[in-house]
Amino acid sequence: MTRFPKNFLWGGAVAANQLEGAWLEDGKKPNISDVVVGINTKTPGLKWNDNNKKWEMSLDEDKVYLSHEGIDFYHRYKEDLKLMKEMGFKCFRTSISWARIFPDGDEEKPNEAGLRFYDDLFDEIIKDGMEPLVTLSHYETPLHLMTEYGGWISDKMLGFYQNYVNAVFERYKNKVRYWLTFNEINNMYRRPTISAGILSVTPKNKENPLEVSKEELWTAYCHILVANAWTVKKGHEINPDFKIGCMMASSSVATYPYDCNPENIMGAYQLQRTANFYFADPMCLGIIPGYVRKMWKDDGFDYSFSKEDLKLIKDNTVDYFALSYYRSGTYSIDVENAFDTGGIKGKKNPYLKEESPKPWSWPIDPVGLRYTCNVLSDRYHLPLFIVENGIGLDESLNENDTVEDSFREKYIREHVRQLKLAIDDGCEIMGYLYWGPLDIVSAGTGEMKKRYGFVYVDRYNDGSGSLARNKKKSFYWYKKLIESNGKDL
Ligand code: BG6
Repeated sequence: MTRFPKNFLWGGAVAANQLEGAWLEDGKKPNISDVVVGINTKTPGLKWNDNNKKWEMSLDEDKVYLSHEGIDFYHRYKEDLKLMKEMGFKCFRTSISWARIFPDGDEEKPNEAGLRFYDDLFDEIIKDGMEPLVTLSHYETPLHLMTEYGGWISDKMLGFYQNYVNAVFERYKNKVRYWLTFNEINNMYRRPTISAGILSVTPKNKENPLEVSKEELWTAYCHILVANAWTVKKGHEINPDFKIGCMMASSSVATYPYDCNPENIMGAYQLQRTANFYFADPMCLGIIPGYVRKMWKDDGFDYSFSKEDLKLIKDNTVDYFALSYYRSGTYSIDVENAFDTGGIKGKKNPYLKEESPKPWSWPIDPVGLRYTCNVLSDRYHLPLFIVENGIGLDESLNENDTVEDSFREKYIREHVRQLKLAIDDGCEIMGYLYWGPLDIVSAGTGEMKKRYGFVYVDRYNDGSGSLARNKKKSFYWYKKLIESNGKDL
């Protein structure tokens, strides 16, 4: 069996809004994740002000916004990175919190304190022997850009985004080589506000800020595609060594037809398109596919890109395809095939024996990772990078101040085995980053109780906890896995 390549990037991944905390420190202002308790929320902390006809922040006093303090990575990153170093990480993925650099988003000049923080952070990552992988936008659109302009619905957004990207590309061009544009941008269709920074400034429903029209949604989609292509172009101009990838939530690729009913086969295929490929095709192939134009037609959306924008999209496809994979799902015409953060929820797959514990109950399907890699590799012929895979468990420290998390080890072991097989199949895989190497705030539900880490962090759903870090059993196991370059499973 093939071995993992010598320079394979083992490591872990996090996002600024889920661990940094310090939500209003050193000039930072709120972003969209700061006003929600998880992206699955139905009640974000935004209220319509009828006097000035704008949405404004209105946090709910009864809720605990755990992300505001996160796990205090902002102040503790040095000690946290030492732990990653101890595990032998080759790569550490995090995001830049846009509102640290441009607090409102529409300023002309960046916030020096914010830039300095990431200077220090990236220096530390490099000092600890890791390659930084940086996401430019991970559910972190500055709130002001949304309440004032409607976020990506506005044609002004590209300019604000360009200022931000220019500033960070120029500043970190000699420190960061691997970049990602928009995290899991294909989640736009189901969670436009938080995933994709879209807020209606002329809302039909003033009670629900999450409601956006199809017209607004697709307008934002077109703007984001232009922004993505521009990023690739600009990045390569600034440093030809930059590797710039797209990032898709790719559990949706492993949506299997529930059975061989041709309607289910067709439905599952359509779902892959409308949940994933509708973003990945333009970003990787430089085309606006026919089925997207059909969706536009069905939704009554009429748009034509300028010739220049179409050329930009065509000429500036990404260097690699980064993906998250947590679970698979099934598609069947006779049930509602709903989404959660991890993937598609349809009928239970009778062939899968295990799932993550309740209430999350994500089916565990390692073969789904091999399948996903093969589908993406065949479709795009690009290197793939697994930048998220992992399992959230409800855990607590035992009398020895550790957690016996063999279940996590088993989850990783089986997924890494399948990844090896995908390499055997001919897929080019750049690396494997475990999601949430330290316990951090869940993106989906905004809680601490759902723990992914190799390192236990003493913080709880009610906001209590000392924030102390303790190594779990899997910490040592993952270290061995990396040391042996994936042999010691
Ligand atoms: C992905 C996100 O959706 O999955 C992460 O990119 C997120 O931000 C991860 O944390 C796991 O989801 P959750 O809801 O368990 O935190």
